[in-house]
Amino acid sequence: MANKTRIGVLTGGGDCPGLNAVIRAVVQKGIKQYDYEFVGFRDGWKGPLEGLTMELNLKNTQGILSQGGTILGSSRTNPFKIEGGVEKIKENLTKFGIDALVAIGGEDTLGVATKLDALGVKVVGVPKTIDNDLNNTDYTFGFDTSVNIAVEAIDRLHTTAQSHHRALVVEVMGRHAGWIALHSGMAGDATVTLIPEVKFSIEKVASWVKSRFDQGIAPILVVAEGAIPANGDMVTKDQTLDAFGHVKLSGVGEWVASEVEKRTGIETRTVVLGHIQRGGSPTAFDRVLGTRFGLEAITAIHDNDLGKMVALHGTKIERVPLISATGELKVVKPELYAEAEVFFG
Ligand code: F6P
Repeated sequence: MANKTRIGVLTGGGDCPGLNAVIRAVVQKGIKQYDYEFVGFRDGWKGPLEGLTMELNLKNTQGILSQGGTILGSSRTNPFKIEGGVEKIKENLTKFGIDALVAIGGEDTLGVATKLDALGVKVVGVPKTIDNDLNNTDYTFGFDTSVNIAVEAIDRLHTTAQSHHRALVVEVMGRHAGWIALHSGMAGDATVTLIPEVKFSIEKVASWVKSRFDQGIAPILVVAEGAIPANGDMVTKDQTLDAFGHVKLSGVGEWVASEVEKRTGIETRTVVLGHIQRGGSPTAFDRVLGTRFGLEAITAIHDNDLGKMVALHGTKIERVPLISATGELKVVKPELYAEAEVFFG
């Protein structure tokens, strides 16, 4: 009897709601429609690098659709930064009899997938990130959930800020792309939203806060962690780099709050949403998007259409070259930011 086709699955980078929806769809369709076998690699690229695996089957991928996180675990391991890393991955893929790999991740994880594809590894990518900054897909799964979490927080902060006649700064994730800030600021009626793509003048921010306060409304400022003051630099926690060369951000919210308070005399506090934005159950939108991505990824493998990433274009799920998604980041364009600016102050 011929051996069954064996597919490896991994989830890498920062976790994000909807990862389990993808895993479930890949495995359930792969087994039911194509009679494939699955090997789950643990903790991102660390799994194939160190040979860390778990079984993925019909039973253990049932009941996980609504669960946050990833049953496979995740890491920011970069095999290209480890001596002999790529060879080790290739060796282990052969050892586990892997015919093709589904890599679920953001710019870093899929960046590795892109390079491995060029080196002959059979791989299909699925775009994951709460940051929504992967190119050539309208949305990544996880983004909708994190925006909804941020908006719920902002709605709550409005009422307490109003009662205490304060301004409140909400710092959200978004290192180089301000999608979470833009959407949650617009949906949450922010007095001002600051994103990494557009440097801000703290004087202008303070004047918008003053003007909203003078209208009798407690100002809420939504600030992306990567927002940069004009004539200044990104505010970082420390200078330690991760395996993909990123510094730890956070702190710009505090800085904006203290500068605004100094300039306006309005008591201004800060809330850093941090990993709350990444945890917990995915929204219905992200469950459906993750599911549709997973279904298409396994079909791409069945069609031997490799080196591709599944992508959302309008309402259609399509396949695009991996390189077109990871070559550069999808950032917020000035004209989109201008739409939000209408409501500042
Ligand atoms: O990649 C998504 C992301 O949530 C970024 O917005 C954020 O800067 C980063 O991950 C934080 O990652 P970590 O949890 O590894 O510090």
